[in-house]
Amino acid sequence: MIRIDSVTKRYPDGTVAVDRLSLDVPDRSITVLVGPSGCGKTTTLRMINRMVDPTEGTILLDGEDIRRRPVTALRRSMGYVIQNAGLFQHRTIVDNIATVPRMLGWGRQRARQRAAELMERVGLDPSLAKRYPYQLSGGQQQRVGVARALAADPPVLLMDEPFSAVDPVVRKGLQDELLRIQDELGKTIVFVTHDIDEAIKLGTMVAVLREGGRLAQYAPPADLLSAPADAFVEDFLGADRGIRRLSFLPSGALELTTDTVVPAHAAAERIAGTDPGAEHLLVTDEDGRPLGWAARRDLLAGDLPADRLLPHGRPFVPGTDSLRVALDRAVLSPTGRAVAVDAAGRVTGVVSQQAIAEAVRAAHAAAGTTEDTGDGRADKAGVAP
Ligand SMILES: Nc1ncnc2c1ncn2[C@@H]1O[C@H](COP(=O)(O)OP(=O)(O)O)[C@@H](O)[C@H]1O
Ligand SMILES: [Mg+2]
Repeated sequence: MIRIDSVTKRYPDGTVAVDRLSLDVPDRSITVLVGPSGCGKTTTLRMINRMVDPTEGTILLDGEDIRRRPVTALRRSMGYVIQNAGLFQHRTIVDNIATVPRMLGWGRQRARQRAAELMERVGLDPSLAKRYPYQLSGGQQQRVGVARALAADPPVLLMDEPFSAVDPVVRKGLQDELLRIQDELGKTIVFVTHDIDEAIKLGTMVAVLREGGRLAQYAPPADLLSAPADAFVEDFLGADRGIRRLSFLPSGALELTTDTVVPAHAAAERIAGTDPGAEHLLVTDEDGRPLGWAARRDLLAGDLPADRLLPHGRPFVPGTDSLRVALDRAVLSPTGRAVAVDAAGRVTGVVSQQAIAEAVRAAHAAAGTTEDTGDGRADKAGVAP
């Protein structure tokens, strides 16, 4: 574990970049430092690998003050990834990745072998090995940066806005890739970003910093969204935090109804046996896959108006998708009901917006949180019975 203990950094010109910061970074998880520009994120990261020395306070790695470790050994145990990857422009991709192993005295062959392994791990085509950085896209360069940081298999990875310079689509790919790699490798990652969505997506724990290098809140993402500590954190989270919080609530407990689902060409009595209150019924094909919504009276008239079926939209998979996804599908559905399917795409039932809203209320009650205490801020509070 990395323990940042009451650390202050005052630069020689008097700027207080970090102000009495205390933070425990758990092993084998991603801890994100997020906050507006100039709030001390980079300074904090650089204190962890001793590129910057704290003015006050201590940083402990597995219980030992990092000042007592030789700086080279410390840095070797910490991969470092920065924005724009910081690659050596005059070296090929494979040599960039092999930099640290070569410094450690590995033979050329072994170092290149390791580099090839890492290229595969970060999703780079082997054909890129002999190219130079300028011949790669921004996203590919970032992957090289990650591979290079992982080359000597350090237990700790420090990442300073590594994906900030690439476009949103590429960034999403890099984020997914990082989560996948982390699943496999279980590094202790400290990840800096100014993007709250990135923080919420990647962080096991998220530290929100404010200007002056002070810690505003340190919590798991779901807790940040449900109970921001103050107005600064709430503003920083943005307007739709209530909706985003639903991403952390599972849809598996939603009660699905099947009395508005009928197979195509169902017998009249089967149709008559459906929920009489439903104006539209979901029609499925012979394998149970959704075809679309049909007006109940058309079906009762013995008519399957294939060209007049309302689209069923994208279904959700209970247990796999979140309540946010289920709600999104219901909101987009022409009937206000979302279609649930199993992994094979067969309909398991439908669920209304009202039922989803009920599940959201139940989940909030179970978590012991309420929304809106009047000043527009959420409080962690017991829910009245
Ligand atoms: N070497 C330095 N000398 C003086 N001030 C610095 C230095 N590096 C950073 N700062 C200042 O410290 C504050 C925090 O900077 P930084 O850690 O880079 O923030 P962030 O990474 O969150 O944008 C800023 O006000 C910045 O201008
Ligand atoms: Mg920075």
